[in-house]
Amino acid sequence: MEAIRSIEYDRPQGLTCGIGEAWARVPDTPSLEEKRALKERIRALLEREQAVLVAHYYVDAELQELADETGGCVADSLEMARFGRDHAAKTLVVAGVRFMGETAKILSPDKRVLMPDLDATCSLDLGCPADEFSAFCDAHPDRTVVVYANTSAAVKARADWMVTSSIGLEIVADLHARGEKILWAPDRHLGSYIQKKTGADMLLWQGSCLVHDEFKGIELDLLRNEYSDAKILVHPESPEGVVKLADVVGSTTQLIDAAVKLDAQRFIVATDLGILHKMQIAAPGKTFIAAPTAGNSATCKSCAHCPWMAMNGLANLADVLERGHNEIHVDAAIGERARVPIDRMLDFAARHKRRVQASGDLAKDGSLFTHVGPA
Ligand code: 13P
Ligand code: SF4
Repeated sequence: MEAIRSIEYDRPQGLTCGIGEAWARVPDTPSLEEKRALKERIRALLEREQAVLVAHYYVDAELQELADETGGCVADSLEMARFGRDHAAKTLVVAGVRFMGETAKILSPDKRVLMPDLDATCSLDLGCPADEFSAFCDAHPDRTVVVYANTSAAVKARADWMVTSSIGLEIVADLHARGEKILWAPDRHLGSYIQKKTGADMLLWQGSCLVHDEFKGIELDLLRNEYSDAKILVHPESPEGVVKLADVVGSTTQLIDAAVKLDAQRFIVATDLGILHKMQIAAPGKTFIAAPTAGNSATCKSCAHCPWMAMNGLANLADVLERGHNEIHVDAAIGERARVPIDRMLDFAARHKRRVQASGDLAKDGSLFTHVGPA
């Protein structure tokens, strides 16, 4: 029987925070025999439905393997958006969380977008309701509104720019160079990391990711002393004390690239542990150690795995393909408005990549990690 897991997360209201309550549905783990049968069924259904599987690095290894083996993709949120938009398939099946499915639908309104579980959400999305966010924007009309991808379609519709962790720093640096003041939402850690790196004037919404918020700087420092040869890879949704110990700060794809390209055998990884599957394949023979999520005084240790990413399973994936349910719908007017900041980001990212490639700086070619060195 699948179980319901209750979840507490930071629930910001403008610039203050309280506790929010949410839940995630934990799917059953199929036996090995069931897994084999489900994978076969999914392969056949993807073909029957002319569908392609677009997965994030945080979902189960089996789903990632299926996406790779069937011509789909496993990627960070920026590449997922681009891949879905550019693929010829009539149906996109997004294995990830809801904002990823909505972004796919906004970019491809004529495609059918399905998700294994439509209730797979994100604490950043939950912590930034469109009406409260809109009031926040209304109170600061002089600021350019930049939102992280981990938001609802309605929040994106209120924004001038959408960014992901792989290009947010470059976009804000560019806006800052043009003299623009920024209103940023919802992730406070990513926002303050970008603010410090760029020196931009940024007003920050106070959201956080409940997975990355759990990484602990003091304990990471102790672990680093134990493994002095290890490089530290950190996703910028992590707290400042963790980011400042990083050798590389970057999106999920950028962290995997760093694991491959850096001349080290051992890495300490501060992001969702789902990423280790791809890291081990991309950098065989290297060792990956999970960054600590508990302090000496903490009573419990977080599992460093997103409860909503974990809602994607083989059984519910097969089921949506079979029955065609769990389709993402985005209101046409909201979708049209939300597409503007997403397209701006994709155009900027393409220009940025061309610029960096032309400059011959291969360490910054847009597919590689860009934020090397401590914050
Ligand atoms: P990426 O864009 O780096 O894949 O991050 C998405 C996310 O939700 C991380 O928690
Ligand atoms: Fe959201 Fe964090 Fe889960 Fe990413 S890992 S989807 S930011 S809750």
